[in-house]
Amino acid sequence: MTPPDRHRFAEGDREAVYRAIHQRRDVRHFRTDPVDDALVYRVLAAAHRAPSVGFMQPWTFTVIRSPQTRARVHDLYLRERQAAACFYDEPRRSEFLALKLEGIREAPVNICVSCDPTRGGTHVLGRNSQPETDVYSTCCAVQNLWLAARAEGLGVGWVSILKTGELREILGIPPHVVPVAYLCLGWPQQLRARPMLEEAGWRERLPMNGVVRLERYDGAPEQGSEASAMVAAAEAEVARWEAAADLA
Ligand SMILES: Cc1cc2nc3c(=O)[nH]c(=O)nc-3n(C[C@H](O)[C@H](O)[C@H](O)COP(=O)(O)O)c2cc1C
Repeated sequence: MTPPDRHRFAEGDREAVYRAIHQRRDVRHFRTDPVDDALVYRVLAAAHRAPSVGFMQPWTFTVIRSPQTRARVHDLYLRERQAAACFYDEPRRSEFLALKLEGIREAPVNICVSCDPTRGGTHVLGRNSQPETDVYSTCCAVQNLWLAARAEGLGVGWVSILKTGELREILGIPPHVVPVAYLCLGWPQQLRARPMLEEAGWRERLPMNGVVRLERYDGAPEQGSEASAMVAAAEAEVARWEAAADLA
C-alpha cells in the first residue's frame, strides 16, 4: 500500500519551507543596493503561481523603480500617516508617529499588486457567492511573493497607509481596478526574529490556543485538554525557528 504521506517533502526541503514562513518579516529598513531584474521577475513568477478563484488570476504587478514616482507615493504616505495619527490620543499618537512604517524611497523596487475584478469576464467559477474572493486571490499572490523573496534574502514591506484614489492617479490604475498591496522590495538592513510592532511594544502575538476553535466558533480547546496541549506544542516548535532567525 502506498503511504498517505508519499507526497511529503524530504526533511531538508520541509525545513526550508517552514524556515521561509517563520523567518519572514515585514521589512521597513532597506539597503539601497540594487536588485537585479531577474530576481524581481523570479519572485513575481512565484506570485503568479498563487491560487485564485476559478483560476481567475486577477492580479497585475506594477514594478516601480522611478525615484520620482516613489517620491510621490512617499508624499502620499506622509499625508495619510498624519491623518491616521488623529485616531490616537497621546502618548499613543507620538508612539505611532515614531514608528517607521514604510521603506518606499530606500527600497530600490516598489511593486503595486492590483486586482482586476473583470479579469475573468462576466462569470468566474466560484466567485458568484463571494465576489471579494478576487481580492483574496490577489492576497495569496502577495504572500507567495513575500515568501519567495524571503528565500532569496530579500525583504518585503507592505504599505497600506496610502489613499487608493491618489495611488490610482499616480500609477495610472483604471477606476475598476483595486490597488490591493503596495510593496517595498529590496535588501533588508536586518531581519528581526519577531515583528517590529511586537519588539516596539505596540502589540503582542496572540497565543495560538486563543485563535483555534474545534467544530464550532465557540469551541475553544479546553484548558488542560489534549488538544490544547497539542496546539501549544505546535506553537512552541515555531520558537525554534524564531530563535534561529539570522538577525545580522
Ligand atoms: C494587509 C497588510 C497591510 C500592512 N500595512 C502595513 C503598513 O502600512 N506599514 C507597515 O509598516 N506594515 C504594514 N503591514 C505589516 C504588518 O505590520 C506586519 O505584517 C505585522 O506587524 C507582523 O509582522 P511580520 O510581518 O514581520 O510578521 C501590513 C501587513 C498586511 C498584511
